[in-house]
Amino acid sequence: MRDLIDALPKAELHLHIEGSFEPELMFEIARRNRVAIPFASVEEVRAAYRFGNLQDFLDIYYQGMNVLREPEDYRELAGAYLARARADNLRHVEMFFDPQAHTGRGVPLAVVVDGLRAAAAEAAASGGPSVYLIPCFLRHLSEAEALETLDALDPMAGHFVGVGLDSSERGHPPSKFARAFARAREMGFKLCAHAGEEGPPAYIREALDILKVDRIDHGNSAIGDERLLGELAARGITLTNCPLSNLRLGGIASLAESPVQAMLERGIRVTVNSDDPAYFGGYVNDNFEALAGAQSLGATELGDLARNSFAGSFLPDDEKARHI
Ligand code: ADE
Ligand code: ZN
Repeated sequence: MRDLIDALPKAELHLHIEGSFEPELMFEIARRNRVAIPFASVEEVRAAYRFGNLQDFLDIYYQGMNVLREPEDYRELAGAYLARARADNLRHVEMFFDPQAHTGRGVPLAVVVDGLRAAAAEAAASGGPSVYLIPCFLRHLSEAEALETLDALDPMAGHFVGVGLDSSERGHPPSKFARAFARAREMGFKLCAHAGEEGPPAYIREALDILKVDRIDHGNSAIGDERLLGELAARGITLTNCPLSNLRLGGIASLAESPVQAMLERGIRVTVNSDDPAYFGGYVNDNFEALAGAQSLGATELGDLARNSFAGSFLPDDEKARHI
């Protein structure tokens, strides 16, 4: 099964680059930048990666990225992920990053973007994958701060394919960002939002109807809302599922409970992704393998998931057709 998964060309549509920060690299960059981290060893860091829910994880995730300061740090972070992605036979990656988690601690946006773009250019020169960048608004912050971030992104808008919405979901419904997303849409950006990871199906509906997103990240809570499931299938909305993330954050008790199989059966365009691979115990192919074992997915389903990853991407149609 693993051989089949490894051999399948795939795209990853739900990857937070800051969530690919392996502890070994974190220590190396911390030492170089003379930034203290509250752990004595790589083992101690890994031992801290036990999360009861999304917020437990986010607290550690924002702490980890605090050592990133220079363009070189971002280039190395993304370069390490892209080398892993190439080994997983990923041909294309739509890479989330959190501008406010860096600018909020004094790192200029250009430092982040220059470093990520340098890594993307190196990947392009080394056999791929291709990279589209997607900055995300932090939903625990205000809409005014999201709009300020959009202003800061504007002069370099050509470097981004779209914008996203992430961080703490409960209590921060998509409707809180209606104006920011309307403005992003006017600027020509594709739109995605995390919805239904911990939040109710109403948040998925708001993301679709109020934010008018092109893609839903996670979308798990649609299971159980028959009307919503029917609409997602009929409209061909892509849901970027992250099986090991759902398991590690307690959204599901076992991978057998993942909504992926049920969504495939209902004709929903669902994809398999790693979310934050350094924190959740696996990259894309590890997610495919763990899920296939738990839900007895065969070659047909795995092929459908791989095709969905290109169909749901923001690549131009002719490029999608080349991959599918
Ligand atoms: N930021 C990084 N990973 C995230 C996740 N799984 N949900 C919400 N925000 C995130
Ligand atoms: Zn995510």
